[in-house]
Formats: sequence, structure tokens, C-alpha cells
Amino acid sequence: MIMCSCNRIGSGTLKSTIAAILKEDPQAVITPGRLFHRAGYRFTCGCCVELITELIDANLHTQAQANQGE
Ligand code: FES
Repeated sequence: MIMCSCNRIGSGTLKSTIAAILKEDPQAVITPGRLFHRAGYRFTCGCCVELITELIDANLHTQAQANQGE
């Protein structure tokens, strides 16, 4: 699913980026800006920020638990 139409970023890319950030630092605070920066993108119009925030919220707990189980 495309999460950011300006950059054509899919949810899979963002989910894997969240996982990578949390693997390095399980206590990391992930914001949409940090996530985009890490993935190598920049916000253009910003219309996707709310959607990206929801994606982060939905995946944060799941990814943290998965990384602790490794
Ligand atoms: S839709 Fe993501 S920056 Fe425009």
C-alpha cells in the first residue's frame, strides 16, 4: 500500500525501516520525520504525516516485541 504518494513509499518500506531503527535502539522515539530521513526520503507536501504516524503507532509495539524475541 502506498503511504506517501509524493515519494511513492509503500508500507513495506516504512515497516522495515521501523524494524531497523528499533533493532538498533529498542527505546527509540520514531517520528515521521525520523522515519523518512532514515529511509532516505523527505516530506514534500506533508499530506501523509497523519497516515505515517498511524503506521508508526500500529507497528511500534509489534516490532519492539519481535526484536526482543531475537
Ligand atoms: S504525500 Fe507524503 S510528502 Fe506528500
